Amino acid sequence: MSTATDPNPATVPGGIGAAVQRKDGPLKVTGRALYASDVAAGNPAYAYFHTSAIALGKVVSIDERDARSQPGVLDILTWKNAAGEFNALGILSQGGIASTSMMPLQSPEIRHEGEIIAVVLAESYEAARDASNRLIVTYEERSPTATFGDEGLVAKDATEGTPWFVHPAVGDAEAAFAAASVKIDQRYATPIQHHNPIELFTTTASWEGDKLVVHEPSQFVVGMHLGIAAQLQLDPAKVRLVSPYVGGAFGAKGSVTPRTALVAMAAKRLGRPVKLVATRSQGFNLATYRAETRHRIRLGATAEGRLTSLTHEGEELTSRPDSFMLGGTEGTARLYAIPNVATTVTVQHADRDTPGYMRAPPEGPYMFALESAMDELAIELEMDPVELRRINDTPIELIEGRPYSSRSLKQCFEMASAAFGWSDRDPRPMSMMEGDWQIGWGCASAYYTAKIAASFARVTLMPTGALVEVAGHEIGTGAYTIYAQVAAQSLGLRVEQVEVQMGDSRLPPAPIAAGANNAASISNAVANVCASVRDRLAAAAVADGASRLSGYDPTSLTLAGGALRGPDGASETLEEALPRVGGALEILGGFEPREGAPGALAALRRGQVGLAGGFGDRETVKASFGAEFVEVRVHRRTREVRVPRIVGAFAAGTIVNPMTARSQLMGGMIWGISSALHEATEIDHRYARYTNNNLAEYLIPVNADVPQVEVLFVPEVDTKVNALGIKGVGEIGGVGTAAAICNAIYHATGVRIRDLPVRIEQLLA
Ligand code: MOS
Repeated sequence: MSTATDPNPATVPGGIGAAVQRKDGPLKVTGRALYASDVAAGNPAYAYFHTSAIALGKVVSIDERDARSQPGVLDILTWKNAAGEFNALGILSQGGIASTSMMPLQSPEIRHEGEIIAVVLAESYEAARDASNRLIVTYEERSPTATFGDEGLVAKDATEGTPWFVHPAVGDAEAAFAAASVKIDQRYATPIQHHNPIELFTTTASWEGDKLVVHEPSQFVVGMHLGIAAQLQLDPAKVRLVSPYVGGAFGAKGSVTPRTALVAMAAKRLGRPVKLVATRSQGFNLATYRAETRHRIRLGATAEGRLTSLTHEGEELTSRPDSFMLGGTEGTARLYAIPNVATTVTVQHADRDTPGYMRAPPEGPYMFALESAMDELAIELEMDPVELRRINDTPIELIEGRPYSSRSLKQCFEMASAAFGWSDRDPRPMSMMEGDWQIGWGCASAYYTAKIAASFARVTLMPTGALVEVAGHEIGTGAYTIYAQVAAQSLGLRVEQVEVQMGDSRLPPAPIAAGANNAASISNAVANVCASVRDRLAAAAVADGASRLSGYDPTSLTLAGGALRGPDGASETLEEALPRVGGALEILGGFEPREGAPGALAALRRGQVGLAGGFGDRETVKASFGAEFVEVRVHRRTREVRVPRIVGAFAAGTIVNPMTARSQLMGGMIWGISSALHEATEIDHRYARYTNNNLAEYLIPVNADVPQVEVLFVPEVDTKVNALGIKGVGEIGGVGTAAAICNAIYHATGVRIRDLPVRIEQLLA
């Protein structure tokens, strides 16, 4: 794996742009980083969920006698003894904080497969599991609706359940399509996928008097802490959520799932801590998933390849009660210079658990459709697919006519295609062969909205270093490291001198770690507070007649190399400067996005998600861009598909740490390969049940599936996106990858795959 030139080399060692190794790396590789379920929690009881074997109907009876008579069994919660205990919470996509509106144990009704119908509590995990297996449940079953194509779906326009959503449209797409010289009209589909973070869905709840402490992996400790308090009707000051490390989340740990309140209630009833570690299989129903999608795309172009019309009709699946939807047409409508665009998003309600956000939520499936169609159009035009994207590039989105704050899609294609060697490609399908392997090359665009949110941070400067405190999240991204780099740069310290504390609702509020906003949001907050620290220290120095910096213009002083420095070389060490402000300087401050989010810090205190930026701002729209190129090899006889190499070039403004950013992008690209070739949750249409709910049958890529991944950075300076120019890289890596692979498979074989994941049988046809 090669390393590209760093896009914005650090101006100080360990500062912004430096490839600093993860601060939490040694703790993690030596097993000393404690994840939520590693916490000892005194003498806990163990919870085991008994989940529904049917998807629709009700529980007629539960015979608990055998289970209760087993040694070590403490109690069993069912709807009979637990109904009516909780306040309802709205779901995340509707401005609430819950993953689902379907709170279990409130009635005998069953609304989806795998719904929790009993919580068994015992002295050990094994005893709880054994007792759960001894429950005899009688159901009254009705025939459920599973997914697309099944009877009983209820279709709603996305705006019905999600009033803030507007279908992007401009011009007259129908007329322009009718008049177009070259046209594509195709349908695409993506499957159900589950996040499957390595760390399972766990909750440990302990009560100290009337105070509740919850250890649970979280992407949003502030929102979830307030949500849990609201659900349990508790004063938020009496609830604490702790989550210093998260073993993968990908969207599955950003909302309040029903499990937390159940475990908290169980702990209260037993008068002792309760620990839950849900099984891998149960996880498929406990914490959302990426819903299946369908798309019809119509593209019209001139004979020269200028796009004249796009119609994108998206269809998504959700649960019966919840209007969850992604609406990825917001991006596909705006990606290229298309004067006539029409879009719709239809949400289909079925008897399923409520879906949610999963890494690059709308862009993943929606860009598979658009970028596949773009390749099909290029073939129809007999045009190089890179050229097609180049001539339809645009500095402004044409729906409302707002400029992109910066847009380097073209540069991404140039860098990635050069590194890949695209110019050697023979465009004819089936033109490259090596032994029994057909070789194909394909590419696709990637974009991801650059979102940002308000954040607080507290910084304490001491003679020996600094402490940064913020209720942020380490979900594996390198967060502890990059905020230390920002503080080190701002305070003139070595990065080893900066300690970062995160993952606790008692820390200064930070936004949800989702939508790739945190690097921008929290870095800007940390930088702002560090600037206040410098200001305070400088003001005290210049006002002190005994200081070597006495009488200087305070704005001319900088913190560098562990000292406060004047422009002419006069300086004071921190040991000299800090006693004037009490020996250490602690400042709590924050950051609010410039546009689109007035009162955002106050809203954050109330637990609101409040993501600004992206397509939501008035003056400019903001996004990261990328281009991905892949080689595939398809075996002539077995039709096995391999991806020997993939190259991605990305422009995402300031890269705080090229090492951790590269890992993010690489992980995303591997996930993209996975979405093309491996991942799908299969559903039994008769029973609305996930059939491969385990990691043996839910396929994910292993090292042998991913031989060579090359990540390149396009340097990009964006002064409009935020003060530090950060756009974020958490999600874009996997966008477009699946399309690039299917485009390459077409080039290799002449077979077009429009339904993910790619299956051998599709290539046998
Ligand atoms: Mo990500 S799906 O926004 O956690």
